[in-house]
Amino acid sequence: MHFSTILLSASLLISSVVGAPMASFGGASEAETMLKRQYEATQWDNIMLGRDTMVELEKRIVYNPHITSPTSNTVWTAGETVTVTWDASDLPQEAENYTGHIKLGFLPANGEGGYNLKWQLAEGFLIRDEEATITLPADLKSRNDYIVVVMGDSGNKSQKFTIKAKGQESLKDIIDAKIEAAFEKAGMQ
Ligand SMILES: *[C@@H]1O[C@H](CO)[C@@H](O)[C@H](O)[C@H]1NC(C)=O
Ligand SMILES: *[C@@H]1O[C@H](CO)[C@@H](O)[C@H](O)[C@H]1NC(C)=O
Repeated sequence: MHFSTILLSASLLISSVVGAPMASFGGASEAETMLKRQYEATQWDNIMLGRDTMVELEKRIVYNPHITSPTSNTVWTAGETVTVTWDASDLPQEAENYTGHIKLGFLPANGEGGYNLKWQLAEGFLIRDEEATITLPADLKSRNDYIVVVMGDSGNKSQKFTIKAKGQESLKDIIDAKIEAAFEKAGMQ
């Protein structure tokens, strides 16, 4: 806003002095040269500001926990209390007190709905603890493309895994899910 105000006033100034649009710096009158320098200086300030902003962004620590459970072999049941684990051994010291939250979603093969992160299942735990206990909603439907995302400053997602709807668990379902998961892991879905 600040910059555009300056630019606008410079533009009006140039227009009023040389009676030409700001972009045509062709002439060589002293007033024009001065205004051109002023315009360039303003541009330069803005470029410098932009660069500082980028440096600021680079300084922020982005940490993506590597989720170790669930994996593609995992089969959970709706309503169950389970533990999500991740490897935080590479957590930068500056991030030692970062807290996170866990979301459950699903990732349909056709990409519909993106990550579908519909359920927030834990929050406020320390990322450095490398685990959090969650209770799955009791009304989850059976799918083999569930994911959990552990988010701290930034997030990372698990492999796709299976949750069975409550009360529908049979040995056949479990075996089917494992076979599907194995095919999917091998990229043969
Ligand atoms: C996310 O975690 C996986 C392991 O679970 C790891 O291979 C990957 O590098 C991580 N992604 C990022 C962006 O850190
Ligand atoms: C993390 O918390 C501890 C205890 O409150 C504190 O001593 C330490 O300085 C904190 N670390 C960072 C990087 O803020």
